[in-house]
Amino acid sequence: MTATTTEKDGSGMARIAVVVAVILVAIPAWAWTRESARFYTMDLGFAFLGIYLPARLLALLGLVFMFFQFVLAARIPAVERLFKRGKLLKIHRSLGKWAYLMVLLHGVGMLAFDLVSSGEIYLYTETIVGLVALVLLTAAVLAAWFFKPLKLSLNQWRTIHLLTYIVFPLVIWHALMLGSTVNAVPTLRYLLIGLFAGYVVLLLFRLYRKFIVS
Ligand code: HEM
Repeated sequence: MTATTTEKDGSGMARIAVVVAVILVAIPAWAWTRESARFYTMDLGFAFLGIYLPARLLALLGLVFMFFQFVLAARIPAVERLFKRGKLLKIHRSLGKWAYLMVLLHGVGMLAFDLVSSGEIYLYTETIVGLVALVLLTAAVLAAWFFKPLKLSLNQWRTIHLLTYIVFPLVIWHALMLGSTVNAVPTLRYLLIGLFAGYVVLLLFRLYRKFIVS
């Protein structure tokens, strides 16, 4: 095979990877639209239409973006053959900001919805798990963003950042237990289970690289 053929194969594969990523984002967006669009024809009030429903969309998209974060940072040889490591890390940093913002707005939105609609916040196991996940994620994100002002060593911020590996299974469980869209649209439910399976593979890959290869 010539160098040009290999390059063409590489850019073809890169395009396929981008299309797959777009499909992974489109599935929750489509599922949410299917389940929620009809509510916007009804007079259900600002709290429901302006906070509760958008907060659910943000959670669904944020969750898929969180999964991308693991793929972007895992230093997978097959992925690094398609995209430069520097580019992957650049996307990891900017996507991380959006993913965190979405998930933060979801959590705050859900708490605000309870307060606005019924004057109190309902906490039970599934929402507490969401809250714990959000706190851990906030620690992981802050350590990465402010490692210089916080005077963290490379090892310290990396260890804190690894909290995201605890956050992901927690939020998958939280979404499977609570999610109206997730439980109404089987394709979305399978997607979440697929993302969790992908996360397990990436985790095993990282552990293999850390403890067996090096
Ligand atoms: C303060 C923290 C959190 C609270 C109070 C909270 C609350 C909730 C509630 C009440 C639901 C059910 C909504 C429904 O009726 O369908 C839900 C769903 C969901 N949450 Fe959270 N959550 C929190 C944090 C998180 C985090 C950190 C994530 C990470 C991505 C997340 C992802 C999801 C997803 C994907 C759904 C499913 C949405 C749907 O199916 O429409 N949540 N959350």
